[in-house]
Amino acid sequence: MANFRTLGEHIIQSQAASSNSTGELTSILSCIKLATKVVNSEINKAGLVDEIMGQMGNTNIQGEDQQKLDVYANAKFIAAFKARAQICGVASEEEDSFIAFESESCRGGKYVVLIDPLDGSSNIDVNVSIGTIFSIYRRVTPVGQKAELKDFLQKGTEIVAAGYVIYGSSTMLVLSVGDGVHGFTFDPSIGVFFLSNESIQFPQTGKIYSTNEGNYPFFSDGIKSYLQYCKASDPASGRPMTSRYIGSMVSDFHRNMIKGGIYLYPSTTTAPNGKLRLLYECKPMAFLAEQAGGIATDGKRRILDIEPTELHQRSPFIVGSPDLVNKVLEFLDEG
Ligand code: AHG
Ligand code: MN
Ligand code: MN
Repeated sequence: MANFRTLGEHIIQSQAASSNSTGELTSILSCIKLATKVVNSEINKAGLVDEIMGQMGNTNIQGEDQQKLDVYANAKFIAAFKARAQICGVASEEEDSFIAFESESCRGGKYVVLIDPLDGSSNIDVNVSIGTIFSIYRRVTPVGQKAELKDFLQKGTEIVAAGYVIYGSSTMLVLSVGDGVHGFTFDPSIGVFFLSNESIQFPQTGKIYSTNEGNYPFFSDGIKSYLQYCKASDPASGRPMTSRYIGSMVSDFHRNMIKGGIYLYPSTTTAPNGKLRLLYECKPMAFLAEQAGGIATDGKRRILDIEPTELHQRSPFIVGSPDLVNKVLEFLDEG
């Protein structure tokens, strides 16, 4: 635990160092930290709730309906955001539309938050790491009014802060406020996130490629050729590469950022825009990737430069170590 520095201290100090800080971001980030602890506690007993307490009926010990974890996480994060006067609205992968908070104090908030409350939900039932992804933007509509769609449809270059939580063998919160990427590991015995990974950097290159190769028949020729390249034997350049795919993007990204690697969810003939959501998944992870020296692209454009047109729009997504992403771009240019 690097110098026993906590997430709370880090947020306060990084904001104190920022020339235009008003303390508002500090409050938003501490609210995310709090909601994360609540969700983490529920995730840690997922098996108990489903397999043991679930046998008592569909209500928990407090008499509340048991909810699927992604619905639960969504509700907890939104409730936390609503309680902060700095946030005028939220858009969530789990909601049909954005939520503009009605209260006078919230209408005075300067920020909006976008969230994928639970990433990798297909892994919940099988005790495999899952995550949460968030990003924070300054609103573009006047303070005092209700938030509007255009507050949420901003380019990734406008992100003020973004991060993810990984609920893994330990729980980590990985954050960037534009000053690099820092990881904080949760100590559940005292309920504190400690700085554990300072200034995380994508290795320049790596051996890992992560993609759902079951989609191979539907990939473009360029992606197919790249995957053949990954698997070809060429000891001089360290190939064949290693295939690792968890199916929780947060977990695949996290591993690749630490060890060096590339994650691909490209377009397919069946899903021309790919699967991942631009606003809730691609843009925040692209912001973190660039802050850590990596590259994030849809195959043609830098992810952070894409002008969103819809809340739930999807995008092909390729992200990782610079040398590896540049290599796949060569294949796409040829294809
Ligand atoms: P979510 O659980 O938020 O819907 O996101 C799942 C995403 C991403 O985390 C993961 O990498 C990808 O979907 C997995 O998709 P496939 O099952 O198609 O490989
Ligand atoms: Mn997701
Ligand atoms: Mn999700």
